[in-house]
Amino acid sequence: MTLALKNDLFLRACRGEKTERPPVWIMRQAGRYMPEYQEIRKKTSFLGLCKTPDLAARATMLPIEMLGVDAAILFSDILIPVEAMGMELEFSEHKGPSFPRPVQSLMDVDRLLVPDPVAHTGFVAEAIREINRRLDGLVPLIGFSGAPFTLATYMVEGEISKDFSRVKQMMFSEPGTLHTLLDRITETVIRYLEMQIEAGIHAYQIFDTWAGSLSPFHYRSFALPYVRRIVDSLKRYGVPSILYVNGSCALLEDMVTAGTNVVSVDWRMSLSGVRERVPSVVAIQGNLDPVSLLGEPEILREETRRILDEMKDRPGYVFNLGHGILPSTPVAMAQYLVSLVQKGLDAPMPRRAGNI
Ligand code: CP3
Repeated sequence: MTLALKNDLFLRACRGEKTERPPVWIMRQAGRYMPEYQEIRKKTSFLGLCKTPDLAARATMLPIEMLGVDAAILFSDILIPVEAMGMELEFSEHKGPSFPRPVQSLMDVDRLLVPDPVAHTGFVAEAIREINRRLDGLVPLIGFSGAPFTLATYMVEGEISKDFSRVKQMMFSEPGTLHTLLDRITETVIRYLEMQIEAGIHAYQIFDTWAGSLSPFHYRSFALPYVRRIVDSLKRYGVPSILYVNGSCALLEDMVTAGTNVVSVDWRMSLSGVRERVPSVVAIQGNLDPVSLLGEPEILREETRRILDEMKDRPGYVFNLGHGILPSTPVAMAQYLVSLVQKGLDAPMPRRAGNI
């Protein structure tokens, strides 16, 4: 597979190899900041988009065509397999995702399925095959899943939460129930990622976005072991893996023990510090503050310079943001960022930030 790729910089960096320059892609690179995405989105709901392989493939291709990033990422959502577990899922324009009947008890957990991924989410495998046809080996395709703890936060909270008080209340009152839930999600995620790998993804990222809300002690009990089980189960495929946690500064050493090839970090720590704390065989991804794309191009250039300097001569670095790109980002700034990494810091600058 890898041999057939025209640009395999990303996969080589994930494997910790020295590359001519860091590869670059952007978390949420196909999204509302792109007018072309909005056009596709007008045709259907967000879930409809995720479930229509032709439209999902079109969305996936947009950042390849418009930004020229070094990797594609499957257009989908981390909550798709949760719906397949038997939970009704809604997406609204203002509130984002919600589960009208959240998990509240062991009885609710017992009702959840470990779904057959092809029967319930076969559209994801179809989208992967369709994207690879369109990519024709241009760049690798990243698949993904939410991590058990992060998926559990949505299933127990029922909606986007700031303090995660419901899921943490379950952790402090009925830890056995939470472990049973996490176990069932883990089995679901393993099968779901197996399906993606068999359909043709070249690497996968596990989003444990909200595990940074846990103390290191609870991270080691309620998040890390489940991610480790997923990574261990999928090792036999030899597909590079990435673990992303938002707010991972206090968890970094533990996070590395999950066994992924890459750890993806946010902007709250310096990469020179990260370099010292992560063994050299493990690659590093991320760190640019997504808000830097809303500022002045000169400052974005200096932020990019700082990151590139900090990672200079460190094999295995994948340039990315510390979290998803914001909907208010000017496309020209995303294009400028990609060209700074790919062509160098004297790449032509867009005239002004804002509505360029
Ligand atoms: O990176 C990519 O371009 C691939 C597609 C992708 C989406 N969501 C598309 C999306 C990926 C990898 C995700 C992951 C995801 N989804 C995460 C983990 C990463 C992160 O950002 O923290 C989480 C927590 C979710 C759950 C989710 N989906 C939320 C909280 C929301 C609403 C808030 C928001 O940012 O929009 C979504 C909706 C969503 N997922 C959109 C997109 C393009 C916007 C939906 C729309 O078009 O209306």
